[in-house]
Amino acid sequence: MSSALSTPQRILILPFEPYRDVATPELEDRIRAIKAEMGETLLILGHHYQQDEVIQFADLRGDSYKLSQLAAESETCRAIVFCGVHFMAETADILSRPEVEVYLPDMAAGCSMADMADLDAVEAAWADLGEVVDTDDLMPVTYINSSADLKAFCGRHGGIVCTSSNARAVLEWSFARRQRVLFFPDQHLGRNTARRMGIPLAAMCLWNPREPLGGNTPAALRDSRVLLWRGHCSVHQMFKPAHVAQFREKFPGIRVLVHPECMMSVVDAADLVGSTEFIIKTISEAPAGSTWAVGTELHLVNRLAAEHPDKMIHFLSPMVCMCATMYRIDLSHLAWSLENLAQGTPVNRIKVPDETSHWARVALERMLEVR
Ligand code: 13P
Ligand code: SF4
Repeated sequence: MSSALSTPQRILILPFEPYRDVATPELEDRIRAIKAEMGETLLILGHHYQQDEVIQFADLRGDSYKLSQLAAESETCRAIVFCGVHFMAETADILSRPEVEVYLPDMAAGCSMADMADLDAVEAAWADLGEVVDTDDLMPVTYINSSADLKAFCGRHGGIVCTSSNARAVLEWSFARRQRVLFFPDQHLGRNTARRMGIPLAAMCLWNPREPLGGNTPAALRDSRVLLWRGHCSVHQMFKPAHVAQFREKFPGIRVLVHPECMMSVVDAADLVGSTEFIIKTISEAPAGSTWAVGTELHLVNRLAAEHPDKMIHFLSPMVCMCATMYRIDLSHLAWSLENLAQGTPVNRIKVPDETSHWARVALERMLEVR
């Protein structure tokens, strides 16, 4: 029998609770230390909606499209710690090299929009639609804000993924191949993009997954070009056309810049629409002294205002519209995740099952090729 002394010590997972009470400067020092220790084997990716305290530690930051590309192109890391939400970490797992492990500092960092469509509901919709239209001529397009199994559904059915920055190119790709598109889960991105391509609203049906035929008549479905899943982003839904009107009245000459997850009436009233990366670029290149109202998540708008003191940057809504799930990734969770990773007890690994990963990758690679 081996003595207690010769028994190798099992390292225990560091529990999260004590991290809540650690002061910010100490958490920052500890995160810096882990980053220095792990060097190029660690890649921290951060989405633009992350809080300043977290985004400062991201090695690379971006919108959903850029973060997918960065994960696909990463060459030296063995671990990606994703400061963003669950579907982004899943996408990084699918697109990164097989030996890379992806971690999400807080598993509760989901996306309420992504949760509005699940595989059972989309498969049921597909079967229902098959009774009325030819599904061989129907292109499934999922917004990247969706679970991996919905991306895999698209991969299996000849479909594709899109992001807010390439939705138009993806719809053009789709219509070059098929007559009709089923777009999920964000009705607003689908509608805003199709409208700008010249597709009339009369050729779009809203698909309510709780109703037979999505709440549509067979004739309306047969006449349609785009079927829009009834999903939305609760953050971007807070911006209203009245807010645009109020800013225009108060600041004549103001430019209004919004994310395409905003409803159509807001996008129509705005001057410019685009992804978070587009919003950042537009503000960065704007002349000093220009005035802007920006309709997207609060942390990004506040950061833009702080980084561009020579420009007047307003948040488009009088309400606080922040993404509560992005906000779950805080310094405590980041430090907890990194310290467990460094001591060999990683927590919250995001691992998409192989079969799902394969087909989701097919749909994501189609997207990466389109641009
Ligand atoms: P972007 O791809 O524009 O960064 O958008 C992601 C998102 O979730 C917006 O709500
Ligand atoms: Fe999802 Fe909206 Fe948050 Fe983006 S802002 S991650 S769409 S809930």
